[in-house]
Amino acid sequence: MEGYQIPAHIGFIMDGNGRWAKKRGMPRNFGHTKGAEVFKKTINWCRELGVSCATFYAFSTENWKRPADEIEGIMNLLRRYIKDIRAAAKEDIRIIILGDIAPLAEDIRLELVDIMESTRSNTGFIVGIALNYGGRDEITRAARILARKAADGEIDAEQICEDSIERLLYTSEMPKLDMIIRPSGEQRLSNFLIWQAAYAEFVFMDVLWPDFDKNALVSAITAYSQRNRRFGGI
Ligand code: IPE
Ligand code: IPE
Ligand code: MG
Repeated sequence: MEGYQIPAHIGFIMDGNGRWAKKRGMPRNFGHTKGAEVFKKTINWCRELGVSCATFYAFSTENWKRPADEIEGIMNLLRRYIKDIRAAAKEDIRIIILGDIAPLAEDIRLELVDIMESTRSNTGFIVGIALNYGGRDEITRAARILARKAADGEIDAEQICEDSIERLLYTSEMPKLDMIIRPSGEQRLSNFLIWQAAYAEFVFMDVLWPDFDKNALVSAITAYSQRNRRFGGI
């Protein structure tokens, strides 16, 4: 996309899997399976277009409200995709998991920790996967860490600034979030990257996530490129 402004970091809210499956008379987990394939392809499209980091919302802190069999289906998909994620390491991709993985099953947790460690020095592209992630939870966690340090006398509470919080967010080693793409027709953040989105550009699309394709990504970046980002200036 020569001549276009390319966002360094895009957040994807992978929404609409359930509706996509329902339209086809299939169980919701069928939509999640298709959605996971699109996730994999989107990484490649982003790289081809010159984006350097993409974060995908895979499971929110609120998604535990769903029926147990749907949650189990999503976790099993994750088990299957861990192999693909491992393969990504060979392509110089760094994987960063955002969210509290403590409540996940032990086998998944150990794999995820290992993937993060083993891809730490890859610099070709960064993939963020938000799992049991909530923006409020992320900020609360940062507040708790700072409060503890202040109580222990390690820091002075008066010195706490925006940077102190930024450094404790899951995105601290990623480029600044430039754009959020939400397919499925919903126009809300649903607790995704709420701190980081302060000056991000939002692109809402009617396509359901399993139908998201490279053309959709190109049109979102085209829209982004036409925005005038003022950051409060003129
Ligand atoms: C997003 O698709 C995937 C997850 C939240 C895990 P949904 O499952 O929310 O699909 P819709 O919104 O019901 O269509
Ligand atoms: C947001 O989608 C979470 C993910 C895509 C993982 P939801 O489907 O959970 O969001 P709401 O409930 O429509 O706000
Ligand atoms: Mg949804």
